[in-house]
Amino acid sequence: MKTITNLPLLLLTILGCELSRASYIVFRDYSGQSFFSGWDFYGFIDNTTWGNVTFVDQNTATSQRLAYVDPTTGHAILRVDNTTNIPPATLVNRPTVKITTKEAFDVGSLIIIDVNHLPYGCSVWPAFWTLGINGQWPDVGEIDIIEGINNLPFNQIALHSTNGCFQAANPGQSGRTITTNCTLPEGCLVQETKPNSFGAAFAQAGGGVWATQIDVSGIYIWFWSRPDVPRSVAQATADSSLNLTDWGAPTASYPASACTISKFFQPQKLVLDTTLCGTWAGVPSIYAQTCGQGQSAKPRLFQVSNVFGNGSNYGNAWWDISYVRVYRVVADQPPALPSSTGGSTGATGLSSTGDNGTLPTGPVQARPSSAMRESLSWTLLVFSMMVSMWLM
Ligand SMILES: *[C@@H]1O[C@H](CO)[C@@H](O)[C@H](O)[C@H]1NC(C)=O
Ligand SMILES: *[C@@H]1O[C@H](CO)[C@@H](O)[C@H](O)[C@H]1NC(C)=O
Ligand SMILES: *[C@@H]1O[C@H](CO)[C@@H](O)[C@H](O)[C@H]1NC(C)=O
Ligand SMILES: *[C@@H]1O[C@H](CO)[C@@H](O)[C@H](O)[C@H]1NC(C)=O
Ligand SMILES: *[C@@H]1O[C@H](CO)[C@@H](O)[C@H](O)[C@H]1NC(C)=O
Ligand SMILES: *[C@@H]1O[C@H](CO)[C@@H](O)[C@H](O)[C@H]1NC(C)=O
Repeated sequence: MKTITNLPLLLLTILGCELSRASYIVFRDYSGQSFFSGWDFYGFIDNTTWGNVTFVDQNTATSQRLAYVDPTTGHAILRVDNTTNIPPATLVNRPTVKITTKEAFDVGSLIIIDVNHLPYGCSVWPAFWTLGINGQWPDVGEIDIIEGINNLPFNQIALHSTNGCFQAANPGQSGRTITTNCTLPEGCLVQETKPNSFGAAFAQAGGGVWATQIDVSGIYIWFWSRPDVPRSVAQATADSSLNLTDWGAPTASYPASACTISKFFQPQKLVLDTTLCGTWAGVPSIYAQTCGQGQSAKPRLFQVSNVFGNGSNYGNAWWDISYVRVYRVVADQPPALPSSTGGSTGATGLSSTGDNGTLPTGPVQARPSSAMRESLSWTLLVFSMMVSMWLM
């Protein structure tokens, strides 16, 4: 008798899992006290963008409180040193932080970063980006998700690759395309057009969220200022699955029709850093666009003069990050039948064990088969309720 009365409950449990299963499940979550355990600290000068900084090692970053978890909010904080007095010299390197995930994430991944404050100010150049493994840049591919300089009022997104990857015409995005050839020095560049995507305004609006979908069908990047974060993202937890049904158009779209993603992008590690000056923020003509000519007596050094002195220029040069989360697409599977519980436990098994199973392929947004699966699930749910009532 007991097994029979539990049957409707069992059916509901199976169906509940089936109904809540969406397109993406959590693969890695970087948040809270363990945020920094999944990242390596660079521990060297800036030998790629040539900023006047030293990216310190983990011990230095921890002891100087340049990287820590805020005990009150649980958010990850990454700062630029703003207390060391550095006299003007021929070589100036202010301590800051660059961290890279230990793991790399392949096509089929979806990366979400929830940020409350981005570093900004004259000479400041923060970036959240990804870099491919297994080879040299740019063969391995690079995705710039958050990147801006000085007092720029908007974020910029770009892909970098070897020759042959382009942004397709009319890609279906809200951002403004600047360049379409991903091999150019600036990459294939898209400027944010939504308000409050960078600088002081970003923080005043309560921050925001970026999502980056690396899919065989293309690379897609969304930005939402805090008030516009869709419910699916705002309510997501480290345990819940995610679908993209309420996301709207991305800021930047790079459909595979003009760039074969798996050919130009190796598995990508995530990178967070802040540099000062360097080959973009420190170029005098670019610096002058949002920061003027500076106060330096030596015009050639006016941008670097921010780095000199007691660091009071860097009181806003910090990241406050609620979480970085990497999701992995779930293969479209036939609906779990009441007799088979294996299908309904598969998704949670993958998320908790970090299974490295083969990545499914195919487009991932709003599949007709998902809708079919859902309607079939509802049919089964109604059926199980009828069974339940019949048993009572
Ligand atoms: C930067 O320096 C590090 C440490 O010496 C080195 O491993 C890396 O290859 C250098 N990168 C470039 C692009 O030169
Ligand atoms: C800043 O860095 C650039 C690039 O490494 C270097 O040429 C310049 O001398 C540095 N400036 C100072 C004042 O350290
Ligand atoms: C893309 O840029 C690269 C590097 O500048 C250049 O060699 C190539 O010809 C460009 N491709 C097109 C189609 O313009
Ligand atoms: C997508 O997620 C929303 C909640 O965020 C949920 O209401 C909806 O049923 C989900 N759709 C699918 C197809 O899983
Ligand atoms: C740091 O330097 C700035 C500009 O030189 C000065 O206005 C400020 O009072 C100094 N702050 C401290 C704490 O010494
Ligand atoms: C240094 O920056 C922090 C934010 O990272 C700020 O709270 C603090 O007041 C700044 N200190 C000085 C001396 O400017």
